[in-house]
Amino acid sequence: MSSLRPIGFFDSGVGGLSVMKEVRRLLPAESLVYFADSAHCPYGVKPVELIRGRAYAICDFMIGLDVKLIVIASNTTSAAALDAVREKYSVPVIGVEPAVKPAAAATVKGRIGVIATGVTLAGERFESLVKRFGDGLEIFTQACPGLVELVESGRWDDKETEELVKLYLDKLLARDVDTIILGCTHYPFLRAVVEKLAGSGIKVIDSGEAVARQVARVLKKNGLAADIKSTGGESFFTTGDPEHVRPVVRLLWGKQDLVVKREEV
Ligand code: DGL
Repeated sequence: MSSLRPIGFFDSGVGGLSVMKEVRRLLPAESLVYFADSAHCPYGVKPVELIRGRAYAICDFMIGLDVKLIVIASNTTSAAALDAVREKYSVPVIGVEPAVKPAAAATVKGRIGVIATGVTLAGERFESLVKRFGDGLEIFTQACPGLVELVESGRWDDKETEELVKLYLDKLLARDVDTIILGCTHYPFLRAVVEKLAGSGIKVIDSGEAVARQVARVLKKNGLAADIKSTGGESFFTTGDPEHVRPVVRLLWGKQDLVVKREEV
């Protein structure tokens, strides 16, 4: 059994493209739809009820596009709304969470730093992750207001970005961590800056590849994978100003001719 229906991804903005890129790498035959809720970005400093409401609105739109699976390509939205979205829709829903399990396997000193949004770090999902995989480890967290906005404006390697990343990283490095989790899907786009500032002895881990493998497993299990002979395309939507969002999506996705459509949901 196979299905040519698309997979839907969404986030507060362009961050979830870091997850969709891993899915594209692993599953070239799949059609992918990306929704950037740019008019409401960032989510990470907003009330949980608002984030949940946005998740419903975007998922309603994507169900209208007949998506076969939804990826909540956002740690923050997964913290705020994964269970609620799973309850409401009949398609499989996959969320993203900070990579505590792989970090626990990678750390030598038993000291891990996590950068994420305040909503993610305050959520029950994160607390439960730390309980399940953090036994015997020291896990230090750091919310990073401002980083998401810099990625949204395509400024992932300028001076101001580097200074802000340094401000947050230094607090974790002062705790002698040897592993840093990028617990927000915007942050893989800052990986080069993080790695440069952290230095060569520090491992930097995100969840993108693990999510892509999970997508592949769930598609296969449900008989929903696209025919291997097909070539998947991508479409992009935003609640923001497409003139503003398009150049950043083009840069991050690495295709100059893609279209980003405005959609009010
Ligand atoms: N990229 C999202 C995450 O993984 C949301 C960040 C935000 O909008 O604050 O948490």
